[in-house]
Amino acid sequence: MSKLGDREKRHDRFYRRARQESYAARSVYKLEEIDRRFRLLRPGARVLDLGCRPGSWLQYAARAVGPKGALVGIDRTPLDVTIPGARIVVGSVFDVAGPELAGDLGGFDVVLSDMAPDTTGIRAIDQARSEGLFERALDIAVETLAPGGRFVGKLFQGPGWKALIERARGSFREVRTVKPEGSRKESIEQYVVALGFAGRSPA
Ligand SMILES: C[S@@+](CC[C@H](N)C(=O)[O-])C[C@H]1O[C@@H](n2cnc3c(N)ncnc32)[C@H](O)[C@@H]1O
Repeated sequence: MSKLGDREKRHDRFYRRARQESYAARSVYKLEEIDRRFRLLRPGARVLDLGCRPGSWLQYAARAVGPKGALVGIDRTPLDVTIPGARIVVGSVFDVAGPELAGDLGGFDVVLSDMAPDTTGIRAIDQARSEGLFERALDIAVETLAPGGRFVGKLFQGPGWKALIERARGSFREVRTVKPEGSRKESIEQYVVALGFAGRSPA
């Protein structure tokens, strides 16, 4: 069997489908699969998307939550696409407090994080940075989710994996890990799906 070239690997069926369906990125199909399995995004839901550029998860979420829903996204870099009705914050998740992102909404029903570090190719460094982003996403979810809320976070498998999953288990009724079909086989990324937020402990 012939080995796929770099271009063919990048331009796989998910990439081609995303172009046909006018999504900003092929990663939309990872969210679609997770949403299909766990029914995350319901009409009217308030959704926060951490690391939202180029915007395909927000595009998908906008259709799923409909006109009564609310969308907030944050990324270090501005989006090139417009998501009608979404509030986009440009900045790092480390420089903003969760309640600032929630603003007048008060809280979210769903917090998503597809944040990825700028990879170096050095596995230990990339894993540590991914763990830092995941931990920050989980903290923001715990600060801003309404009771019963749902969280999805990308996490590279590495030494901190087990401890972070345990941390999520401390705040949610059910925690699962998923490797969606759209996630490249060679990638060490997985998605942690946490359902049934227990609510914040009283201060
Ligand atoms: C894989 S992309 C997200 C793709 C997005 N889900 C979509 O479907 O369009 C990861 C994003 O995380 C963002 N990111 C990484 N570190 C961040 C940080 N500290 N604060 C905010 N965004 C960050 C990057 O700028 C990048 O745009």
